[in-house]
Order: sequence, then C-alpha cells, then structure tokens
Amino acid sequence: GLPERITIHEVGPRDGLQNESVIVPVEVKAEFIARLAAAGHRVIEATSFVHPKWVPQLADASQLLESMERVPGVRYPVLVPNDRGLDRALEHGVEEIAVFASATETFAARNLNRTLESQFEMFEPVIARALAHGLRVRAYVSMCFGDPWEGPTPIGQVVSVGRRLLDLGCFELSLGDTVGVGTPGHVAALIEAFGGPAGLAVHFHDTYGQALANTLAALREGVTVVDASTGGIGGCPYAESATGNLATEDLVWMLHGLGVETGLDLASLVETSTWLAARLGRPSPSRVVQALGGT
Ligand code: HMG
Ligand code: MG
Repeated sequence: GLPERITIHEVGPRDGLQNESVIVPVEVKAEFIARLAAAGHRVIEATSFVHPKWVPQLADASQLLESMERVPGVRYPVLVPNDRGLDRALEHGVEEIAVFASATETFAARNLNRTLESQFEMFEPVIARALAHGLRVRAYVSMCFGDPWEGPTPIGQVVSVGRRLLDLGCFELSLGDTVGVGTPGHVAALIEAFGGPAGLAVHFHDTYGQALANTLAALREGVTVVDASTGGIGGCPYAESATGNLATEDLVWMLHGLGVETGLDLASLVETSTWLAARLGRPSPSRVVQALGGT
C-alpha cells in the first residue's frame, strides 16, 4: 500500500533558482517563498550558504533571510557545506540546515573541492556544531544512481556515505538522483539496501523522464518525504547534465489522483509557477503547469 499522507520538501527556491541563468532579485525570491507557504508547503528549502563565487545565483542568502516572511509552523532549511556557511546561517536565526555529500569521487571534487573521504572532514564539525546549537540537520547524498563521469554508482558506496551521515546525527537522508539516470527497480533496491525507508527521503531530477515513476517506487517502499520543485525548475551547476527537479505540480497531480494527502493547493502552485516563469523569461518545464497554466 501507499502512505496516507506525504511531506513534500520543496526545493524550488534553492535547487531551482541556483541553476537559472538570470539572477533573480531578492524580492522575487521572498515572494516566491511566501507564495509557496500560502499554497500549503510546510518545508521550503530557502537558499544556500555556499561560496558566493561557486553559486552566484544564491549569493544574496543573507539578504533573503533578512527580508523573507517566516510563517509559524513552516520549516525553512538552508544548505550549508562547511563551518563558514554555518557561521553565516547562524547569524540569521536559521533552525534547520542541510549538508550535501557526494556518493562519487568525481562529483565530490567538482561540487565540493574535496575527495569522497575528505568531504566528511568538512561535514563532521558542521553537523556537530549545528546539533549543539539545537538545529535540525538534514543530509543529501548526490549521484546515488550514477554520475556523468563514473557511470552507475555502486549501491554499497551510496549506503556507506549515507549511513555515515545518519550516524553523525542527521535526522533525514535525501537520496539524490542529481542527473536523473535512476529507474524504479534501482530505487527500490537502494532503499532496501538501506534496510527500509526509515529516515530516507528521495530527490529526483527528471532528466530522463523517470522522476515520477521513481517516486512511486519509493512510496511503495514506504518513503514518506519527497523533494520536488514548484514549476520543475532546478539542477546543479556542477553536474552538466542535471536538469529540473521533479515538478511539485506533477507530483501533486499523481498523489491526489492516488488519494495521498499533501496539504497542497494545486491551483495556487500552478499560478505561482506561471508567475515565476514570467520572471525567469522561460516557460515552466512541468507538464501539469503547461496543461493547467497555459505557459
Ligand atoms: P573551497 O574553495 O575548497 O573552500 O570550496 P575553502 O574552504 O578552501 O575556502 C576558500 C575561501 O572561500 C575562504 O576565503 C573561505 O572563507 C571562503 P579566504 O580565506 O580565501 O578569503 N568560503 C566561503 N565563503 C562564504 N560562504 C561559504 C564559504 N566557504 C568557504 N560557505 C566549498 C569549498 C564547499 C565552499 C565550495 O566547494 C562550495 O561552495 N561548493 C558548493 C557547490 C554548490 O552549492 N552546489 C550546488 C548544491 S548541491 C546540489 O545541488 C545537489 C542536491 O540538489 C542533491 C542532488 O540533486 O543530488 C543537494
Ligand atoms: Mg538537486
């Protein structure tokens, strides 16, 4: 059976906007986040405290946190890779962070300037200090299914990186298909290799059109937290073949069809995506937005 209700971890303002060629004004980001909360989102990943030269699109993280409205009951996690990022996040009263590890050597080098092993030297002190400050810490593992340089990622390698992050005290591990190469059988096998869905979330990019099928496979394995991006924007600037995340609207259409509760209002999500597409100067890649929004 399927879960009665799932939590959608909305990543549009972070994963979505980090990969846009235009730099979106901070006021537009704040309005995007406010609209997402109004549509019913309870977890909205707001931005990243990464090196501003590495991701100039999110260099305004401090200004955003100072200007955006925070609705009680809504979580607004931010990405933090290292101590410097945590210092910056703590200055703005952040209550939840996410570290982001790589399952492959090549992507650890490209995205973090670290090795598979030395990425942990960066994360360990961050996680420990964040927990000591009472923050919640989520962890991502990227390239869980394959990467553009090394091909398919061995399942044991993903489980080893992921377990280590959970053992360090992360409350949730989001399994990232950064370049969208995974397929449903692989998804089920990976979740089973972790020993079941406890503590796991899934994060699918839709490069090969598999994101929705992969999500359904994960739900059947008992996963109840799914990452998605309103409008289907997103991608990692350090993984060339990355493309948009699973669109929140496409996910909500499927879940509501299946009778799974999300707490989200589809019409207001579509309206927000149509509004955002006008600001980004390109149509939303989401099929549901195209069908309902006319963009
Ligand atoms: P590095 O060059 O090794 O950094 O980069 P460093 O530790 O050697 O520091 C060099 C300088 O940068 C120092 O300044 C630091 O203070 C400064 P200096 O002393 O030379 O004047 N610095 C910073 N400044 C501001 N904020 C910071 C920061 N850190 C260092 N946080 C680093 C290492 C991790 C910083 C860099 O590689 C980086 O920022 N990487 C982030 C890349 C990124 O954001 N990628 C996208 C997110 S991941 C993703 O999208 C995948 C995901 O969606 C899941 C999936 O799809 O699979 C999550
Ligand atoms: Mg991503």
